[in-house]
Amino acid sequence: MKLIRTSSSEWREHLVFLGALMRNPRNVGAIAPSSALLARHVARHVTPGSRVVELGPGTGVVTRELLVRKGESGTLLAVDTDRTFVDRIRRAWPEVDCVCASAETLPLLAAERGWAEVDHIVCGLPFAVLPAATTTLIVDGVEKLLRSGGTFTTFQYAHTFRLPPAASFRRQMSAHLCCLPTSQLVVRNVPPAIVLTWHRRVSPGGASNRDQVLWATNSGPGPAGGTRRMHAGLPRVRG
Ligand SMILES: C[S@@+](CC[C@H](N)C(=O)[O-])C[C@H]1O[C@@H](n2cnc3c(N)ncnc32)[C@H](O)[C@@H]1O
Repeated sequence: MKLIRTSSSEWREHLVFLGALMRNPRNVGAIAPSSALLARHVARHVTPGSRVVELGPGTGVVTRELLVRKGESGTLLAVDTDRTFVDRIRRAWPEVDCVCASAETLPLLAAERGWAEVDHIVCGLPFAVLPAATTTLIVDGVEKLLRSGGTFTTFQYAHTFRLPPAASFRRQMSAHLCCLPTSQLVVRNVPPAIVLTWHRRVSPGGASNRDQVLWATNSGPGPAGGTRRMHAGLPRVRG
């Protein structure tokens, strides 16, 4: 199994990533960019013509996949706090609307573009290490902007999956989107990661449905801190 790719452009990508990690370890929250396989899994719900937001694109491994999937008729807004990453993405893909800002400002960024909603939000943010207040603001913004029937997809590293901030993020997202995530373990990544997707649906029950999800996420054991869809067993192994 080839875990680390070795072409010179990929080494440069790793070096850029390491530089950002050394400048701001808490923001980057990873030792290397995602593998191509993980990027494909994270991007797989995006369809041609979609309006897509990517939070935390880093060096652009997932961005590359999103561009292919959304096609020429789709739109991609990428948001990262690291100026080096933003400049790199702007240089590589001038067609991407890439802004240097915190994901906390997502509702404002959408309003500036006249967007009431988006089809898909794809996220590389390290919720296991982000401050709780930041996570709460980001989850609120996703709830405001994601259309019903849309998806929110992110990944968490297997070794951080059970950390309280990571589990708290999952509980909040499930409660806000009134649904539980599907999950998939991707082993061919350094480190192995679990891809999580929330498929937002219209909730006729409103608050009572949210209560039901809160109950489900707070009770019982399981890798997602108790989500029912994830309780059936550990995520399926891929790669
Ligand atoms: C784990 S890296 C993921 C990079 C890339 N998506 C990948 O899979 O290789 C996390 C990224 O999130 C960015 N980030 C961290 N906090 C952020 C925030 N509040 N708003 C936007 N981006 C943030 C970091 O600068 C970094 O690019």
